[in-house]
Amino acid sequence: MPRTALIAAMNEELAALLPAIEGATTGHCGGREFWLGQFAGEPVVAVLSGIGKVAAAITATLLIDHYQVDRMLFLGVAGGLGEGVKVGDVVVADALLQHDMDASPLFPKHEVPLTGMSRFPVDTAFSEAAARGARAALAGSQARVHRGLIVSGDRFVSTAHESRALREALPAALAVEMEGAAVAQVCHAFGTPLAVVRSISDRADDTAHVDFGRFLREVAGPLGLEIVQRALAP
Ligand code: ADE
Repeated sequence: MPRTALIAAMNEELAALLPAIEGATTGHCGGREFWLGQFAGEPVVAVLSGIGKVAAAITATLLIDHYQVDRMLFLGVAGGLGEGVKVGDVVVADALLQHDMDASPLFPKHEVPLTGMSRFPVDTAFSEAAARGARAALAGSQARVHRGLIVSGDRFVSTAHESRALREALPAALAVEMEGAAVAQVCHAFGTPLAVVRSISDRADDTAHVDFGRFLREVAGPLGLEIVQRALAP
């Protein structure tokens, strides 16, 4: 049975997952606490990624190299960018890109130098299982599940001006967050299957910081738990 990493971006989300891990023991590495046990009968390692691309890349690398995980499910919140991507919706990534990567004119904008890649892929089957889990978790509500491009950068996008600029530069982007593309680059380097699931906490506009806080306190934890339960035991 594969050992699945459950990576949460925020403490509120990890705290909701931990009570569901049976026989949990903890390990420490790289200043992080890792929770090992069984979730819905599957071996898991749960951890807080920390915020931003470097923290996420360190976490993903440790999960692969130190904890030998076979696949990763990254769970968190994001700002909605795509038209019709509303607060409460869920976006499951088809691909991820670093919107703040720019080594032009040496390399095309958004391309990670020397990889020839700007969009990093996810695992299709695992992402579909995660999307099914998200659809089941949202059944009966107005909220929708979207599939498509998620963009990441080391910036909390909190003005309408900035989110408009991102939409213009990357019209396919459905949501913006701060870790997913870094985890995707690590997973690509090691050949580790990945799914990234983001619930939309805000619209990356002038009220983003207020909406973000409220969503984290009230919705993100229980929604994340339900998505993981359904994604791992579809
Ligand atoms: N995560 C949640 N909302 C976000 C935003 N507006 N910008 C970046 N990351 C986010």
